[in-house]
Amino acid sequence: MTKKEQKYIIAIDGGVATGKSTIAKAVAKELNFVYINTGDMYRAVTLYFVQNNIEITDENIVSNINDIKITFRLENNNVITILNGEDVTEKLHSANISKLVPLVAKVKIVREKMVELQREFAKNNSIVMDGRDIASVVFPNATLKIFLTASLDERARRRKLDLEKRGEYIDIDILKNDILKRDKIDMEREESPLIKVEDAVVIDTTGHNISDDVNTITELLKRRTEI
Ligand code: C5P
Repeated sequence: MTKKEQKYIIAIDGGVATGKSTIAKAVAKELNFVYINTGDMYRAVTLYFVQNNIEITDENIVSNINDIKITFRLENNNVITILNGEDVTEKLHSANISKLVPLVAKVKIVREKMVELQREFAKNNSIVMDGRDIASVVFPNATLKIFLTASLDERARRRKLDLEKRGEYIDIDILKNDILKRDKIDMEREESPLIKVEDAVVIDTTGHNISDDVNTITELLKRRTEI
């Protein structure tokens, strides 16, 4: 296989607001890889239930899952998420969707569908993919596995800024509580819980510049490959 044909996978896992998507996106840009945010896939499935006023129960999820089609499109280096033909990118990060998404993401059939979709991306591209189970389930043979952490204070601050950009103003203590609750559900669920795999490199992003972490990750990849 020539160097050009070789496909690389960087798996980035971590809890809520640990910096995954910001860092993953920047690493992908630096290396010219495709960036896939798997959280947005689970968020899009959740949005389907909210938009159609369908209560989120395991039974309803099983009976509706085949009506949900998620695709992505690249637009000026930004990933656009399409749910059944509609660009829903701007609707995925509300506080309400964030609260509901773990209830959808813990259901086996949802995970099976999403993982299938996620693996498709790696067939033809070198990718940076972020989520909760990328190194443990989706790509156990990933070229590089990163596990991100950050202090609760910093994570809540990031969430607050993120929501404020979208016009939602929520008290920082409520956000701290939401972060801990969401992480707890993600870590304790039966299907593909959030874990740090043994061979993942841990990066604590607290107080870091994004560019420092991006450099660390690209250097790690370069050391392992011939890029
Ligand atoms: O990464 P983000 O915070 O946007 O993810 C939203 C939610 O989607 C997580 O809290 C988790 O419940 C779910 N998720 C998951 N597996 C992934 C990515 C996200 O279960 N690979």
